Amino acid sequence: TSRIIIDADTGIDDALAILYALRAPNVHIEGITTVFGNTNVQQAADNTLRLLALANPGYEIPVAIGASKALVREPGTFAAHVHGENGIGEVQLAPSAQQVISEPAPEFIVRLANENPGEIILVTLGRLTNLALALQIDPALTGKLKNVVCMGGTIFEPGNISPVAEANIWGDPEAADQVFTSGIPITMVGLDVTLKTRITEEHLSYLKRFGREENQPLIAFMEESLLFYFNFYRSVNFYLGSAPLHDPLALMVALQPDLVTTRRMKVRVEHQSPLTQGMVVADLRPQPAVGTEIEVAVDVDPERAIGAFLSVFM
Ligand code: BDR
Ligand code: CA
Repeated sequence: TSRIIIDADTGIDDALAILYALRAPNVHIEGITTVFGNTNVQQAADNTLRLLALANPGYEIPVAIGASKALVREPGTFAAHVHGENGIGEVQLAPSAQQVISEPAPEFIVRLANENPGEIILVTLGRLTNLALALQIDPALTGKLKNVVCMGGTIFEPGNISPVAEANIWGDPEAADQVFTSGIPITMVGLDVTLKTRITEEHLSYLKRFGREENQPLIAFMEESLLFYFNFYRSVNFYLGSAPLHDPLALMVALQPDLVTTRRMKVRVEHQSPLTQGMVVADLRPQPAVGTEIEVAVDVDPERAIGAFLSVFM
C-alpha cells in the first residue's frame, strides 16, 4: 500500500487527481493539504471536503489548510478563467459535514513525515509554498519523506502561464527554488509529459457507459467540470474536445512510476527576472554545475496513462 499526502489547490484537474487517488487500489491517503492557486486556499479546502463527501472514501481523511499566498510575493489573482470562480468549473457539490483540522498544512506534513519516516509520498499539485514552509520548520524533512512527486515546471515544452513558466512554479518561484535545491528526493512531472496526456470527450462517454454504478456521481462531476475545462482549452487552441490531465498524471506517477521515463537533471528556478519568473533552468551540459539534481519526467506513454486513469472508475 502506498501512503500519500496530497497537497492541492483544488481546481478541476486537482479534483480529478483526488478522485483517482480515492478509487485507486492499494492507496492510503494520509491527508490532503491545500494551498492557494487555482482558487483561494479556503475555497480549495472546501472543494476538497465536498469531493471527499461525494466519493465517500470509507475512512477519515484529514484536510488541512495551508498557505494563502506565496512566500515573499503579494497575493495575485486566481485562475477563474481556467477553473471557474469556485475552482471546480462552477459545479455545485453538496456541502460536507467534515471540518478542516486546526493544524496548518506545513505542520501537518512535518508531523506525519516524522511519525512515519521514509514511508510517505507527498504529491504536490499546486504551488510549492506548503512544502517550502515545512522545510523551514524542519530542514531534516529532506530525509523523511519517501519521495515528493510534483506537478509543475517544464523543460522542453513551452510554458502555460508565460513563454517559459508553468503556473505552479511561476506562482511561487521562491518556494519552488527552495524545494528543488533542498536535496529532498523529487520527481518533477511537468508540461513535458502532462500536455501529452489528454482526456477527451470520447473518454468521458466511455466512462459514462462502462463506469461502475457507484462511481456515476463522480463521473457526472467529471463531466460537468471537464466541460468547463474543455471550453477553456478550446479558447487557447488546445486539441479540440480535450484537456491535459496535469495533476492526475502526477498522482499516477506517484503510484506507478513506470508510466513515465525520467532523466536526472540539475535544476534551479528563476525568481529574479519578471520575464522568466518561474522558469525551471536545467543544466543539461555534459558537466552540469548549476543547481541540484532532481528526477524529471521527460516522456510518457499517454495511452497507458489514460488507461490507468479510466480503469479505476470501471
Ligand atoms: C497546473 O496549474 C494548475 O492550474 C493546475 O491545477 C495544475 O496543477 C498546471 O499548470
Ligand atoms: Ca493544481
